[in-house]
Amino acid sequence: MTEVRKQRILIVDDQSAHTVALCDVLRQYQFDAEGCESAEAALELLRSQSFDLMLSDLNMPGLDGIGLVREALQYDPELACIIMTGEGSVATAVRAMQGGALDYIVKPFKASSLLPVLARAQATRALRLANAELERQVRQNVMELAEANYRLEQARTEAEHANAEKSRFLSNMSHELRTPLNGILGFAQILAADKLPATQLEKQRFARNIVQSGQHLLKLVNEILDLARIEAGKVPLAMEAVDLPTVLQECRMMVTPLAAKRDITLGFGVVPPQRLRADRTRLVQVLINLLSNAIKYNHEQGRVDLACTVDGPRLRIAVSDTGPGLEPDQVQHIFQPFHRLGRDEEEEGSGLGLALTRRVVEAMQGAIGVESQPGEGSTFWVELPLAPETTQQVQHA
Ligand SMILES: Nc1ncnc2c1ncn2[C@@H]1O[C@H](COP(=O)(O)OP(=O)(O)OP(=O)(O)O)[C@@H](O)[C@H]1O
Ligand SMILES: [Mg+2]
Repeated sequence: MTEVRKQRILIVDDQSAHTVALCDVLRQYQFDAEGCESAEAALELLRSQSFDLMLSDLNMPGLDGIGLVREALQYDPELACIIMTGEGSVATAVRAMQGGALDYIVKPFKASSLLPVLARAQATRALRLANAELERQVRQNVMELAEANYRLEQARTEAEHANAEKSRFLSNMSHELRTPLNGILGFAQILAADKLPATQLEKQRFARNIVQSGQHLLKLVNEILDLARIEAGKVPLAMEAVDLPTVLQECRMMVTPLAAKRDITLGFGVVPPQRLRADRTRLVQVLINLLSNAIKYNHEQGRVDLACTVDGPRLRIAVSDTGPGLEPDQVQHIFQPFHRLGRDEEEEGSGLGLALTRRVVEAMQGAIGVESQPGEGSTFWVELPLAPETTQQVQHA
C-alpha cells in the first residue's frame, strides 16, 4: 500500500501562542505543520527544507508577510502562500496577491474556514506543478525534435553531396572511357576500310595507337574496379608487419628507370629500421603512386626526396618533389577521381592514382595529405601505424 505523503505547511506568526495553536490544529487535519515566529526564521528554514504551503501573518516586526512571500518564492516558485491578516481590507488582499500569495484569510478564523482556503491553495499548487512538468516535457520534446531535424538535415546534405559526387564520377568516367575507345574504333575503322589509303608504315602506327589506347582502357577499367571495390569495403587487406627498408628498396628499384629517363635525382635519406602494419602489396602501390607522380610532375633534372619520421605509434613517409607545386584550390580536389588539373595533354595518366591511394591508405588505418608551395614543389605524405612489436621496441629503447 502506498503511503500518502502529508502536506508540509509552514506557519509564520510573531504571536507564538497563535503559531503553536495553529500547528496543533493543522496536525489534527493530517498536515505536517511547522511554526516560525519571524519572516527571517522562516526564510532560514526554507533555505534547507521544502514545504508545500506557507501561511504567514501580514504584520510582523522586521520583514512583513508580503516581503516574506516575495523572498520565499525565490527559493521555491511553486510554494503556495497564504496571508493571514487582521485588517480585512481589499487593499491588503490585493497587495498580498500582487506579492505572489495565492489567497488570504482574515484573522481571527476558525479551522472550518481555513481548511477550504488551504485546499484551494493546494489544488492551485498541484496544477502549477503539473503545468511546470508539462512545460518541461514540451521544451524537451521541442529540443529533441530540433536535434532530430538537424541530424536529418545533415544526413540529407551528406546524401545529396554523395549523390552529386557519384554523378560527377560517372560522367567523368564515361568521358575517360570513351576517349580511348573512340581512338580504338577510329584507327580500327581506317585499317578495316579498303577505300582509305594507308601505307604499311601508317598501318603500323595505327595498330600501335590501338594497342596503346587498349592498354590505357584496360588500366582505367582495372583502376575503376579497384576503386569501387575498396569503396565498398570489398578488398581484403592482408595486414602484416612489413619491413620498411626492404619495401622502400623495392620501390626505389621500380622507379629508378622512370627517374633516369627524366634525369631526376632520387634521394631516400636514412630509412629507420621499422616495421609497418600494412598490406604489403597495397603499401608498394601507394608509394609507387606518390613516387611516380613526383617524377612525372617535375622539372627535368629535378629532385625527388623521400623522408621517414617516427611520430609516436605511427610512421610518416613524405615524398617531396621540385615540380610546379599546387595552388590551394588544386590541393582541395587533388584526391578526387579524375582531377588531372589540366595535365591531360602533358602527361599520361587516368587521374585515379591519388584517389585510389587515399582510399587504400585510409583502409589501412592511415592518413594522407599534401603540403605545397606553388612554384616550389609539393610534399605528399602518408602516415601509417607501426607494427605492434616495433612500437614496443621503440618504447623500451
Ligand atoms: N607531385 C605532384 N606535383 C604536382 N602535381 C601533381 C603531383 N601529383 C599529382 N599531381 C596532379 O594531380 C593530378 C592527379 O594525380 P593522380 O596521381 O591522381 O593521377 P594521374 O597521375 O594524372 O594519373 P594516374 O592515375 O596514372 O596516377 C595529376 O594529374 C597532376 O595534375
Ligand atoms: Mg598519378
